[in-house]
Amino acid sequence: MRHTRWVTTTIDQDHQARTAVSTDLWRTAVVYQIYPRSFADSNGDGIGDLPGITSRVPYLRSLGVDAVWLSPFYPSALADGGYDVDDHRNVDPRLGTLGDFDAMISALHGADIKVIVDIVPNHTSNRHPWFREALTAGRGAPQRDRYLFRNGLGPRGEQPPNDWESMFGGSAWAPAGDGQWYFHCFAAEQPDLNWENDEVREDFRRTVRFWADRGVDGFRIDVAHGLRKDLSEPYLPWDEIADIMRPDGSHPLWDRDDVHEIYADWRRIFDSYDPPRFAVGEASVHPARRARYASADSLGQAFNFAMQDADWRPEDYREVINSGVADMINSTTSWLLGCHDTPRVATRYGLPLEEDRPAQQVARQWLLADGATPRLDPALGERRARAAIMILLALPGSAYIYQGEELGLQEVADLPREVLEDPMASRTTKEKGRDGCRVPLPWSADGPSYGFGQHVGHLPQPEWFAAYAVDVQEADPGSMLNLYRRALALRRELFVSDDLHWVESESSVLHFARPGGVRCITNFGPAPVALPVGEILLSSGQLDQSRLPSDTTVWMRAR
Ligand code: NOJ
Ligand code: CA
Repeated sequence: MRHTRWVTTTIDQDHQARTAVSTDLWRTAVVYQIYPRSFADSNGDGIGDLPGITSRVPYLRSLGVDAVWLSPFYPSALADGGYDVDDHRNVDPRLGTLGDFDAMISALHGADIKVIVDIVPNHTSNRHPWFREALTAGRGAPQRDRYLFRNGLGPRGEQPPNDWESMFGGSAWAPAGDGQWYFHCFAAEQPDLNWENDEVREDFRRTVRFWADRGVDGFRIDVAHGLRKDLSEPYLPWDEIADIMRPDGSHPLWDRDDVHEIYADWRRIFDSYDPPRFAVGEASVHPARRARYASADSLGQAFNFAMQDADWRPEDYREVINSGVADMINSTTSWLLGCHDTPRVATRYGLPLEEDRPAQQVARQWLLADGATPRLDPALGERRARAAIMILLALPGSAYIYQGEELGLQEVADLPREVLEDPMASRTTKEKGRDGCRVPLPWSADGPSYGFGQHVGHLPQPEWFAAYAVDVQEADPGSMLNLYRRALALRRELFVSDDLHWVESESSVLHFARPGGVRCITNFGPAPVALPVGEILLSSGQLDQSRLPSDTTVWMRAR
């Protein structure tokens, strides 16, 4: 066949990943993120739970994912959706028991689905026995050394030690009540641990072994880039350190070189199991520093958040793909369009594209306005989200899918202020917070919580959730859910090695070739474009005869 518009060339030798066919499942695994409280509620108390997950294993199996990652299900007051952990080695009684955990893992393993749990090593909750002891033991007590206590300023220490801010807004220091203050990167209910302290190190070794011994296959490490800190004086003013992305490890709080000592230590534990346990770091770091977390002597994989941050533009996608594929030469890469911390992808792509503000920021402003402005075009967002997931699933590397993305769920913008659970919503007026992507999933078109449970869920679901319900989508061959199922099944068949070559194309078209000459072609432009002659394997939308319409992706074999 003749390529009418495109010439197959390798346009950048440096950006080819020419590694051997990998036998390592994790290198290419598709991982489904479960936010347990909002997935499925088995006992009608409005909170998703572990038996709820077990009951939905057939659904996960039919979706075709390799693994699930569970956000925290540990005992917690839910000051930060469970990332405020009271006990790292137990199950929150509202979500089940350790016995329920064992039953869930065996059901998932029975369906050939691996299990990743979240480890939250940067902080405990303020209800953790260690933190209670630290408060009562008083100034100078060794119990305080497990956390980051410092003397306050002023005659009685009534001022915080410096002007540093929490990631959720407001001061990063909270008073202990005796002239000392403790440091918290996130909510005040999440005191940061001191990773110079041997007891802290030993306790997390225990936690990792505890879950590995129970059969978990891997770990997602929360705030992996934040564990080591330099809190020595003089402190730099906040203005100078508010930007956390540095290419050289020089920030006092984030991405310091010595954090990798902790992971080298854990690596010995991971590798003492057969098969070795997997780990992925949540490390929001400068792109040049990502591969370090993903290296074989550190965590082995790091989330690549760049695609979640990318706008719907071919040049953004090209850049993100090049940088992620470059990571694969020495380590691994992973792709994702969303998670429990980000406005949903179908919404980000359904809001107007702005020149000087990234889509995530536009979506956050839209949330603050309860979805009133700017105007959302849900159909456009969904069309682009369909095209985007087909790009993502055609790439070499691993992919993460956040629950509800496979249904094309939109962000819920109009949750009333009084039901919001995210601490961000109360700590700052600049953000509405992350609850809009954490609303319980709709499983059926009717029922008090659309099949989530027998009663209403912990966050109210809007009426329009009915149209997105799993049972509605199962019955519709063109639904988002069926697109995900087909794409995941085909991915296993088609994309068996890491090779990726760019195919030259007009600037509004993203076109790359994968093993066996399979092409992934996306039209970002407004008008349909001609496709090469060949066999269409999957399309994210209806083709316009043999032309590729706007905001559509195809996988095809060109002749
Ligand atoms: C990252 C988690 O994804 C987020 O949900 C949480 O608020 C922070 N870490 C703090 O644990
Ligand atoms: Ca429940």
